[in-house]
Amino acid sequence: MSDGSTGEKLTELAKRRGYFFRSSGVYGGVGGFYTFGPQGAALKGNLEEAWRDRFAVAEGHMEIDAPTIMPEPVFEASGHLEGFDDMLIECPECGATVRADHLVEDGTDHEDAESLPIPEVEAVIAEYALSCPECGAGLADVAVEEFNLMFSTRIGPGDSQPGYLRPETAQGIFVEFPRLSEYARNKLPFGVAQIGRAYRNEISPRRSIVRTREFTQAELELFVDPTGDGPDLEPVADVPVRLYPASAQADGGEELRTTIGEAVADGTIADPWVGYFMGVAQEWYEAVGVDPDRFRYRQHLAGERAHYASDCWDAESEVDGNWIELAGFAHRGAYDLSNHAENSGERFTVFRQYDEPKTVERAAVDPDMSELGPRFGADAGAVVEALERLADRDRAAFDGETVTVDVDGERHEIDVETAGFAVEEETVAGEHVTPHVIEPSFGVDRLVYTVLEHAYREDEVDGEPRTYLALEPAVAPTAVGVFPLQRDDALEAEARKVARELRAFGLSVTYDDSGAIGRRYRRQDEVGTPFCVTVDYESLEDRAVTVRERDSTDQVRLPIDELPATLAALRAGDRSFEELYSNN
Ligand code: GLY
Repeated sequence: MSDGSTGEKLTELAKRRGYFFRSSGVYGGVGGFYTFGPQGAALKGNLEEAWRDRFAVAEGHMEIDAPTIMPEPVFEASGHLEGFDDMLIECPECGATVRADHLVEDGTDHEDAESLPIPEVEAVIAEYALSCPECGAGLADVAVEEFNLMFSTRIGPGDSQPGYLRPETAQGIFVEFPRLSEYARNKLPFGVAQIGRAYRNEISPRRSIVRTREFTQAELELFVDPTGDGPDLEPVADVPVRLYPASAQADGGEELRTTIGEAVADGTIADPWVGYFMGVAQEWYEAVGVDPDRFRYRQHLAGERAHYASDCWDAESEVDGNWIELAGFAHRGAYDLSNHAENSGERFTVFRQYDEPKTVERAAVDPDMSELGPRFGADAGAVVEALERLADRDRAAFDGETVTVDVDGERHEIDVETAGFAVEEETVAGEHVTPHVIEPSFGVDRLVYTVLEHAYREDEVDGEPRTYLALEPAVAPTAVGVFPLQRDDALEAEARKVARELRAFGLSVTYDDSGAIGRRYRRQDEVGTPFCVTVDYESLEDRAVTVRERDSTDQVRLPIDELPATLAALRAGDRSFEELYSNN
């Protein structure tokens, strides 16, 4: 069920029942920061665990846990200092700060203002006479500025070591590549996963936990040989997907209904690894409770791509009538590793062994220092280095009698004989290659919101309106509610014993003995608890209890000693309640 007010009702339920709420509320709160309450923290934790199981453990990848604050050189190399900006416009009347691209998208037909250059955004604001969403003042002549989204800090006292809260967990993986590659015995492909907080100083945080300033990412960085074999697509080839390629968006075309196998074969998805992860994710999202009818993949338009990406597909879910990004599947090429190699001076490559050693020609110099030393004095070393670089880069430069090199802006002519230029044959066993990076990057908070919104239901039970969350049992924060039928020492003792046994079996259990039994069921329905167990007077005699399923409200009678294993199997999806009900 999704009418226009589901988001509001969900936000109210989330606050009242402990899913999520704005943090630091006693001091008025601050935009873009949310606290997950007991239910929300448990749901989020279960989703993270499900992601870890599927994308790290089942794929055989490593997982690391890097710091959230990193020093400035990391972000100089990664391009985030220079290029991680949003367009900011500040209202001259009321001081409100607004994302200029959102202002344009909300007030015109432009759907992708983020990809427009600033002068064009300013021109559109002027053309449509757009105004401040807070006070209504005209913004036609107000300059749009770049605003860097990273939170800055100082590491230690003084200003000597600036640092930043990481805007993506990925950089914590990239900077450790040399060591991680050793752990993977320098064999490609290998993947490194990380689940952790990231921070972006959003100009306008939006839609509760959908766009926040502090959030959790679950990222996998897969390092692949750029000339290597792709993945085995067989496990995902038949997975049906709904794709919205960039070409269709640009010319008003339709979404495609296809399969991963076909989309990779016909080039709609250019990289097979990207296709592989999209297939895995399609099934995984459905398993954790994303409605497949409200889910699609949309390719980034060229102007929309992050500075490091050569291609990117977003997984999108439809919530409150809008499509929101749930994950990005980016091809980052050699961008990150090359930049960290260049900036750190360390090696960010792996050695690719040839099947057979190869004989290659190598141009080299062996300068006569008895001539260069007296001629260049202290600069002789720099001249030799310049000759070596030139021989490596352009052996034709040594074809004549003399060769010319530039050192510190000065040009020097040197006899080729003095340079000792020669081309030699060498046998090499392999070469150093910079791996390419395929990155499935998941937003966890947005997934929590989507799963809740897609699970939100209203119906009638026994003539009474009911609200419930049809969460997948495997991720629901509480697996089982346990109740004594009424206040009674013997029933309570038995029910507490049942709760203890279920907890010892690894199930999360809420024990509730307050109020009428119908109200207790409603409370568990509203937080999405899939199963409730009621201990009644008969239980004391027949050692059996009533188990009620949330969505159907159907009930079955089960022996107490079978309860832990049966409920664990129901939660894991290894057994179905329908089957139990029809056999009961
Ligand atoms: N690492 C990709 C992202 O943060 O969007």
